[in-house]
Parts: sequence; C-alpha cells; structure tokens
Amino acid sequence: ETMNFGLIGLGTMGGALALNIAEHGFPITVYNRTGEVTEHFTANAGELAQRLTPTATLEEFVAAIKPPRAIILMVPAGPVVDAQIDALAPLLGPGDVIIDAGNANYADTERRTCRAGDEEFDFIGIGVSGGEEGARHGPSIMVGGQPGHWQRLGHLFEAISAKYEGVPCAALMGQGGAGHFVKMVHNGIEYADMQMIAEAYSLMRDGMGQDSTRIARVFEQWNRGPLASYLIEISGKVARATDPITGAPMLDVIRDAAGQKGTGRWTAIEAQHLAVPVPVIEAAVAARNISARTDERAKGAEVFGQMPRALPEGALDLETLERALIAGKILCYAQGFEMLSVAAEKFFWDLPMATIARIWRAGCIIRSDMLNDMATALEGAEGESLIHAEPFRSLLQEHEAALRETVIAAMRTGIAVPALSSGLSWFDAMRTRRSSANIIQAQRDFFGAHSFQRLDGVDAPHGPWGDSPLAEG
Ligand code: 6PG
Repeated sequence: ETMNFGLIGLGTMGGALALNIAEHGFPITVYNRTGEVTEHFTANAGELAQRLTPTATLEEFVAAIKPPRAIILMVPAGPVVDAQIDALAPLLGPGDVIIDAGNANYADTERRTCRAGDEEFDFIGIGVSGGEEGARHGPSIMVGGQPGHWQRLGHLFEAISAKYEGVPCAALMGQGGAGHFVKMVHNGIEYADMQMIAEAYSLMRDGMGQDSTRIARVFEQWNRGPLASYLIEISGKVARATDPITGAPMLDVIRDAAGQKGTGRWTAIEAQHLAVPVPVIEAAVAARNISARTDERAKGAEVFGQMPRALPEGALDLETLERALIAGKILCYAQGFEMLSVAAEKFFWDLPMATIARIWRAGCIIRSDMLNDMATALEGAEGESLIHAEPFRSLLQEHEAALRETVIAAMRTGIAVPALSSGLSWFDAMRTRRSSANIIQAQRDFFGAHSFQRLDGVDAPHGPWGDSPLAEG
C-alpha cells in the first residue's frame, strides 16, 4: 500500500523538507501551530503549492491525509515532540507512522518507539543532516526503524535524499534510536572537524599573522586536495566574506564565543557511558564551552599575560599544517566510527558501518571526499579501527610527523590546539605497549584494595603496601 504524507512544523527545516518532498512528486499535507506560517509558506511555494495541502488545525490536518499516513514531525527537539505525539495519538490508526525528523536525543527516540508499541500507530526517528540547503535539495538521512518501515518509506527517503554519484544518501541504521544515535555521532564529528579547522585558522591568523583573504586562499587550495570537504569549502567562503557595514573581513567582526544546541555534547556524554575514548570530540565540545567564557578569558589574559602566539619564522609551513589536519581528521573519524561499533554491540543494532560512511558522502555537513575512501576501508575492516585500514594506515604513517610538528609549534607559542593535540595523544597512547596504568592500579589497590593483575601471571592480587590504611596486621 502507498503511504500518504503530512508534515508538521514549517520552520526553516520543516518548510524546506516539505518543498523537497513536493518537488519529488509526493503530495503533502502541511500544518503549523501558528496558522500565518502555513499561509505564508504555501503562498511562497510557487508551482509546488499545487502538491501542498495547507491545513489550519491538527484535526483538519489528519483528516486531509488518507490512511495509511506518514506524518513527519519537524518541531523543536524535546518536550514539543512528546506533546505533538500526544495530540496526534487519538487521531491516528493502524498503519499510520509518525516520523520524528528533528535532532532528537536517541534515548528519547527509544522511549517514544516503546511508547508507540502500545498504540495502533508506529513511531520512528530519523536523523536528517545538511542544514536548510540539505533539507531543501537533498539531505543525508539516517533512518531508525524496523525493516518493514524501510520497506514502506525507503522510497521517500531515497527520493528526497542527496545523491553521491547517483547513490542515495539515505539508509536504515537499525531499530529504535539507531538513526538518531548515528546522527548524534555525525554531529560530534562535525564539532571535531570544525574545531580542528578553527585550530588551523588560529595557527594561520595568530601564528603566521595571515589576514583573512590569505587564509581564504589556503582553505580554497586545501579544498582541492585530500581535505576537500564541505566544511573546508565554507571555511574558505566565510574567510573571503567582507562585512557590508564596516568593509572589514567578516570573520574579524564576529564575536569569538561558539554556540551549541547540544548534540555534540550528547556525543561526548554517550561516549563516556559507553567507555569509548573520543577525545577529539570531547576536546571540541570543551573548546566551545571555553570560548563562551569571554570574561574569564579576558581576566586570564590580564593576570597571566597572553602567550605570544606568533610563531618564529619558519616554525611551521602551510603544507605541514595541511598534513596535520589530514592526520587529525583520520584520528577523529576513527574515534567516531569506533563509538558507533561499540554502540552497535551494546544496543544490539546492526549498524552498517560502510553504509554510514557512504550516506555521509553527500548532503550532510561533514560530507567530504575522504568519506568515500572510508566507506571502502570500512567495508573490509570487520570491526577494526579505521587507523588500521588502508589507505588510512599509510596516510597516518605519512602525516603523523606533521601533526606532531604542528602541535609542538602551537604549544611552544601558546596557541591552544585542544582537538589536534588530543588526537595526537590518543594516537600515541594507542601505539604504546606498556602504558602507565600500572601505577593507577597500584594506587587503587593501595587506597581501596581494588587488586590488580601481575604481568607474570603470579596470583598475588594485592601489593606489599606497608603503610596502606588497608594493610593487614
Ligand atoms: C546538520 C547539523 C545540524 C545541527 C547544527 C547545529 O547535520 O545539519 O548537524 O543538525 O543542528 O549544526 O548544531 P550546534 O548548534 O550544536 O552547533
């Protein structure tokens, strides 16, 4: 049976998604809590308006869609989604599906899926990436749900999604919260990618004393190499732009305090729950929080003095910086994909790793050429880290020294590079046979009798800690 579509929430993203759906030939009924928004939206839809059915009340909305209905929610994540489901519940029947396309926390999606289990209708959560442009012309879509949901709705998701060389960037991730979980990790990687670019920007601006135009040229050049990606591309564009009010480079008039809606933070929190080390993502979240402390930073500069930041002549060249960013990016994605495989195991999701890389190749914010190689590498990786899969192992071997050189140069003059440096530390730790955790184990046993294992296998689970508070006798 074919499903009939409706969409609730005609904000920037919802409106764009509705037009995208209509453009692909699907009639769609729309509703927004504030009626004027719906009227304005339909009035500006041009010839696509003929496929749109605007409605003024929720009852009218549901009645206008012939069952079985697929109702997309594009409302603010959180309690609004629950309220919307509550309002819809009595109006829906068997075969109807509510699709939450907002940035929900995957745990909420799990809960809502369970709740819908007691109802006649179904509920699924899908992660949609790509901002307004993506929503309008093709996002990357990470679908949570049962295979049956994909059978009924996959054609819609594929039709409206971005295409990478003709391949739709939409796929089924797994049941329940899987789609939103994958979207969350996407956003964590997004934060990390952005932070590493910001660190490279700082090295150029503060370290090398380059102006925005010069920096724009560097990003433009990088966008023609291995770093080619949407985020590098737009970095070039924002560095190029000038302020219409003052004529100054736009970047120079923007306040240096990063905002966040929280999805990157969720990634760091969930990684901690799963005990997966994702230090580059964690560093990126922390860096946003640090940036927002403008007064404290000013006080720090006053009390301790600002570090010089200017790099000595010849301390770092742009090619080394590019190579450092390549290495950093690989390390960050390796962490993100490891997080996905650990979650897959813990939550009994059969997350399709290579497919995830594939549907991130277009439409989403982190789309990049490198993801194409990652898809291939993950195909044969069988749960192994991306750092051990070719071509990334060789790339790391090739660019690791550049990352180290960059981090050292930055540290020496006081340029903060938390993401690049924690990537490097993670990499160093992940290639260390004998770590220093033996002393942690000794400390734990000393104060808490937590015991330890000996390297020689001898069974003596406690240390000879003479004056330990727990020592016998
Ligand atoms: C996307 C983005 C998007 C996200 C924004 C805002 O994939 O289109 O990830 O969904 O909401 O980037 O994120 P912050 O406000 O937290 O920076």
